[in-house]
Amino acid sequence: MNIKQLLSTMSLKEKIFQLEQFNSVLLKQLEGWDATGPMKDLKLTEEDLKLTGTVLNSMGAERMKDIQTEFLEKNEKKIPLAFMHDVIHGYRTIYPINLGLACSFDLDLICDCAEMAATEAVLDGVNVTFAPMVDLARDARWGRVMETSGEDPYLNSLIAKSTVEGFKKGGIATCVKHFAAYGGALAGKDYAEVDMSEHTLREYYLPAYKAAIDAGVDMVMPSFNVLNGIPATGNTWLLQDVLRGEWGFDGVVISDYGAVWELIIHGYAKDEKDAAHKALQAGVDVEMCSTMYAQNLEKLLQEGEITEEQIDNAVLRVLNLKEKMGLFENPYQLTDEKKAKEIILCDKHRNIARKAVEESAVLLKNDGVLPLPRTTKSVAVIGPHGDTGHVLGWWLCGGLAEETVTICDGLRSYDKGLNVRYAKGCEIGWNVTDESGIAEAVEFAKDSEAVVLCLGEKEEESGESNSKTNLDLPEVQYKLLEAVLSVNQNVVVLLFTGRPLAITRLHKLAPAILNVWWPGTECGNAVARLLFGDVVPSGKLTMTFPYSSGQCPIYYNHCLTGRPSPYGRFDITHATRYIDTPNEPLYPFGYGLSYTQFSYSQVELSTDEMSRGGKIKARVTVTNSGKYKAKEIVQLYIRDVIGSCVRPVKELKGFEKIELNVGESKQVVFTITEDMLAFYGAGMERVAESGKFYVFIGGNSETENYKEFQLI
Ligand code: NOJ
Repeated sequence: MNIKQLLSTMSLKEKIFQLEQFNSVLLKQLEGWDATGPMKDLKLTEEDLKLTGTVLNSMGAERMKDIQTEFLEKNEKKIPLAFMHDVIHGYRTIYPINLGLACSFDLDLICDCAEMAATEAVLDGVNVTFAPMVDLARDARWGRVMETSGEDPYLNSLIAKSTVEGFKKGGIATCVKHFAAYGGALAGKDYAEVDMSEHTLREYYLPAYKAAIDAGVDMVMPSFNVLNGIPATGNTWLLQDVLRGEWGFDGVVISDYGAVWELIIHGYAKDEKDAAHKALQAGVDVEMCSTMYAQNLEKLLQEGEITEEQIDNAVLRVLNLKEKMGLFENPYQLTDEKKAKEIILCDKHRNIARKAVEESAVLLKNDGVLPLPRTTKSVAVIGPHGDTGHVLGWWLCGGLAEETVTICDGLRSYDKGLNVRYAKGCEIGWNVTDESGIAEAVEFAKDSEAVVLCLGEKEEESGESNSKTNLDLPEVQYKLLEAVLSVNQNVVVLLFTGRPLAITRLHKLAPAILNVWWPGTECGNAVARLLFGDVVPSGKLTMTFPYSSGQCPIYYNHCLTGRPSPYGRFDITHATRYIDTPNEPLYPFGYGLSYTQFSYSQVELSTDEMSRGGKIKARVTVTNSGKYKAKEIVQLYIRDVIGSCVRPVKELKGFEKIELNVGESKQVVFTITEDMLAFYGAGMERVAESGKFYVFIGGNSETENYKEFQLI
């Protein structure tokens, strides 16, 4: 029987329940369900539950087989459940948080990581991941920046594509989220409203969702937020006009958790029936964890507010997805306990995760302490992150602290002869003040050749609903650093964070800062290799680190005001500036140091005029003029000098990651095409406007190495 025939045999109730997604806990034990929020007025019976379409957040091959078997025994039409889960930066083998991984600028590695996560998840019974998350992030106060690839639309789009491709290779279906502009939350506060011009939306925020769709993503999740006055979950313009109309997306649209019900809380729907009506009309097929559809679609149909065709279309999309995943033939998909045991967390996967940490780490400062000499005999590891596996970060999925290589263990296995001593120093957390552990840390620091001081955030400080306003480290961490420095100058700060931090004070004090984000399962092994120079850090920031928290949102691809500072015609007091903080960030987009040095030749262009449809080659020679073989991420930026809309000061348009031996030079050539010059002009059409362009090539977004050309 094909899907359409199956649909024709289904009762209205069976159809409606295909559009419901519940938690597996609910499916297994209705009685014990501790329902809150959107599920609190749950009026579901066992009878209803055996009609459910999809399941959220369950893990474990055995458990899922068990749920599916029991379910199919009761389900008259034998329509299998699809199991969906948030597989965000690894399944059991956890790789660095997405913001960290993006700093590798390594699309193949990103694809490998996604494939690895998918392989593990599928073997353990998961059919669909709620990823990639491709929201553009400009405000480090927002806790969910850790799930993003950062602030650049071009890079985000490439990463979205690679991630979808990787997941596909691993056999999992995908769901791009959170559509749209969730990262534009007012003042960086999670779930807050987003108010944004269509120009900004199309130019910066929408491209990565579109890239995921072009790469074949299966589902789309509207965001929790209000976008220009209308919640995304009830936003017809977004879900119908743009998503289905302009982009031709024909997959499943699934709400975020409880978001259909939240239309009432937003003040957009007057009651549950209205919420169901507005969500379905807007184009939400599946409702996650609220029961507005189950309770109201039939009534809405009887009242003529919706049509059966609308319900059928939504159900067809769900059934098509299940068919595409092969669930009808094999409801257990690739679930295979034996193979899962062999593959999950296998050496190959650990190696990918280790490489991901090595490529993601960003060296923020180095006065010469790093790399540590291989002759080092003793190291004091200070700070709670140094001796724990709790370095996986939010959305750790099936990752386990006890399967994670700690910094201490990594150093010990790197060099058996190394004397590694650990002291906690102080707890980590935005509100920690207790200084009582500092004295012990100082004792250890005094007697060790080098100190690895683990500072930063705690895992729960970023992630969903973890927004904060002060992005500096708490005072106690500075007290610890100062106390340690008073007895030992050989200090490397390892920074653990889920967001850019405003660590100007740390930058001034610490001899070296290596940002390892939330590194994941292979933390210690990778960090040891980075510290001793087996691997030279090469990561470059994909999100600006502010000079102070009050600069947020801050991003490199901003426009010029009419009064940039300094600017000759006006007194400095009438320029764009803060009176108490510089305009410049602490570390710009694209920034990251190396143990070696790279020098760049002047940019050369093949011609200084581009005709329509033409191409220009832009080239530089990069030389490794330092002492270590290392990788460099060579970045191409373009500026459209005059436009019908004011254009950003720079936009990333290309990059190449190269590896150079000591003394080696390499020519890097980028091809500039007309399409790379296009933008949404005043008429909201994508056009490349004639005129002057600057082409910059350098090692970060502040490069002033440029040449100009004219598009004629
Ligand atoms: C809420 C989050 O916003 C979303 O990203 C996630 O996929 C769902 N919960 C399901 O866990």
